[in-house]
Amino acid sequence: MTQDELFKKLVAHSKEYGFIFPSSEIYDGLSAVYDYGQMGVELKNNIKKYWWDSMVKLHDNIVGIDAAIFMHPRTWEASGHVSAFNDPLIDNRDSKKRYRADVLLEEWLAKQDEKIEKEVAKARKRFGDSFDETQYRNTSPRVLETAAKRDEIHRRMVQAMNDNDLNELRQLILDCEIVCPISGTRNWTEVRQFNLMFETKIGSVSEGASTIYLRPETAQGIFVNFLNVQKTGRMKIPFGIAQIGKAFRNEIVARQFIFRMREFEQMEMQFFVRPGEEMKWWNKWKETRMSWHRALGFGDDNYRFHDHEKLAHYANAATDIEFNFPFGFKEVEGIHSRTDFDLGNHQKFSGRKIQYFDPETGESYVPYVVETSIGVDRMVLQVLSAAYREEKLDNGEDRVVLAIPAPLAPVKAAILPLVKKDGLPEMGHRIKDMLKYDYNVQYDEKDSIGKRYRRQDAIGTPFCITVDHQSLEDDTVTVRQRDTMEQQRVAISELPALIEQAVGLRRLFDKII
Ligand code: GAP
Repeated sequence: MTQDELFKKLVAHSKEYGFIFPSSEIYDGLSAVYDYGQMGVELKNNIKKYWWDSMVKLHDNIVGIDAAIFMHPRTWEASGHVSAFNDPLIDNRDSKKRYRADVLLEEWLAKQDEKIEKEVAKARKRFGDSFDETQYRNTSPRVLETAAKRDEIHRRMVQAMNDNDLNELRQLILDCEIVCPISGTRNWTEVRQFNLMFETKIGSVSEGASTIYLRPETAQGIFVNFLNVQKTGRMKIPFGIAQIGKAFRNEIVARQFIFRMREFEQMEMQFFVRPGEEMKWWNKWKETRMSWHRALGFGDDNYRFHDHEKLAHYANAATDIEFNFPFGFKEVEGIHSRTDFDLGNHQKFSGRKIQYFDPETGESYVPYVVETSIGVDRMVLQVLSAAYREEKLDNGEDRVVLAIPAPLAPVKAAILPLVKKDGLPEMGHRIKDMLKYDYNVQYDEKDSIGKRYRRQDAIGTPFCITVDHQSLEDDTVTVRQRDTMEQQRVAISELPALIEQAVGLRRLFDKII
């Protein structure tokens, strides 16, 4: 199965089992907007809890807030989003399709990397055991030529993005002979900047109504509350403010399911530090956040850092944590050193003094900020892509299983009476009643036990608890583990401890640096 096929199956599976639906589907959906179904919302809530507790519960010096989506419009002038939150767009005159110029170029660069890898793979096959890969990469004329061309285009692109040179971006697209995937032509328009913020009106639509924006990041709600939280919480630098909430961006190139959406959710933490100490904290948060991801057990090799070449208007250092999705390594989280840009500008635009008096140094200053910013929806996609498996069983049957880490699984246990009579359903309900206050559990008595196991595998339930006739005699049940399908006989009284050991977030927290 190719990665493309795998991804299509994942999208279909997410819909079939109640994780993710296209928004307003009965009206044919709304592009790049999705709804979470009964399973999706549980998974999403568990991810949010994993993040929130790892920030707010595990750190004495991090507190949470929940700011409004609507903010005073001056906020977005101060933050630089009105003037600089743009994507460079280009249209193909024949297909009338619109693309992000930088994305077209990045795809071209990725193709050159693929070309090089194909050459190396071919040579490896040809030379067998005697193959010296480093030497081949350093001497093969074909590899060297492609690499040199790639590096030169890459250099020009970074320069053009940093200089905001739209003519050069267009020239690069022409020089690389990039064609529109729909029309196949190179009939490109000029490159134009397009602001990503959604506008709406507040107040009556007649006179007096003013234009406001749907926030494109949650971070600004934290910055404008810096003084409120610092003073009322008596917070001492270094300290952090965490928030989970919706953000909105009018993405033009909206693709890859919930990877790039127009309405999405962010989990952001702004960490306020002394000026000059930001790099130390940036490095510290890079490691902590990477270990948060790796604790999920999807394989350390499936993550990497990717340092930004073009820094956002507010940053002096930035890196992404990328995950190996079925469509390649892509950003899940950003860790940005935002200097004093935001607080400094809010001070200027609002006319209020936004400073911190440091009792240790006796100085007042505008704190510097290190931010960790992760998309909830991208985390959902990460978990689903890493968890989706198709297996052939010893008895020849197929099963689709979501090997979701147990603490994040939407349903923790399913209680399944072997038959619908002889008092087994009643006992099943008693077990459910015992567990339901602490865990999301399901009771299911419909269809054969095999079919019921398959249904639970498909939504990622770690435990299936089967009640049989022996249960009536000795108060034991069979517990089947999702991943190994192994079964063990367990006393009903031991079920809560068994489940807790696997599904408690503690298991993940212990692995975070
Ligand atoms: N406050 C900084 C900030 O917003 P960003 O890199 O633009 O930085 C942070 O976004 C994270 O938000 C990304 O790493 C990604 O996980 C998520 N994100 C951004 N745009 C998104 C979109 N259109 N759809 C889904 N998630 C998105």
